[in-house]
Amino acid sequence: MKSQKTFLLMLAVCTGMVAGTAKAGAWGQKGHDVTCSIAERHLTKKAAKEIDRILDGKSIVYWANWMDNASHTSEFAYTKTWHYKDIDPDETYETAELCESGDVVTAINAQVAALKSGELNKDAEALALKMLVHLVGDVHCPMHAARKYDKGGNTWQVQFFDKGKNLHAIWDTDIVEAAHKWTYTEWADQIDIAGRAGIRLISQGTPDDWCKETHEIAEAVYEKTPVGSKLSYDYVTESTPVVEQQLLRGGIRLAAILNEIFD
Ligand code: ADE
Ligand code: ZN
Repeated sequence: MKSQKTFLLMLAVCTGMVAGTAKAGAWGQKGHDVTCSIAERHLTKKAAKEIDRILDGKSIVYWANWMDNASHTSEFAYTKTWHYKDIDPDETYETAELCESGDVVTAINAQVAALKSGELNKDAEALALKMLVHLVGDVHCPMHAARKYDKGGNTWQVQFFDKGKNLHAIWDTDIVEAAHKWTYTEWADQIDIAGRAGIRLISQGTPDDWCKETHEIAEAVYEKTPVGSKLSYDYVTESTPVVEQQLLRGGIRLAAILNEIFD
């Protein structure tokens, strides 16, 4: 009975049902699955084979959202702050104080370096890979490169189709779910259409550049969405291209990173 209660409490925490819980999740399951599904389509043969070996035949999509659940367990509590990097309006990307326990950019760079080192055993390789495929999704999620003082939009209250929500939650999940009623493969089919030149362009840059780019999107979101905004169909329609763009960028850039590591 006790363990069932503990499980239900954990579930409530993981799904953000506990009042006042700041969610560090990003994209929600669907967005992370789409990111990994797009990345998988752009892996070289060699990279795909290496990943297959490390993950015992499971797809990166299988592990896309694992880290959001793991970060709520005591074993992986040290990764709680790895999902985001916030910058307040009186700071710049360069002057913002680094979070001591790590942020999404330092965490991505650390997993890439570890995987490239050739010094990891298979379990450690699998762990670094599971984290990396999630974190590249996170760094493209607007409210994960947002502002510090409102905990990445977690305390920025709005109304979304007559329900009280916060800006963080609607950009992680609600807009994605309202934009298209598609499976992750349908999402990937529809938005993975950049072509060779587009892919080359998107693949450029570093995690720092991508986080700065996401922060600019977050600032535009804040501008467009004052506290107390009543959001519905118009907001979903205007936000959908942004979500599609960020999911595509995340997928293409994840593939570029994985190809560089494993091929
Ligand atoms: N806590 C503080 N900033 C956050 C963010 N951007 N996302 C999730 N949780 C946070
Ligand atoms: Zn996350």
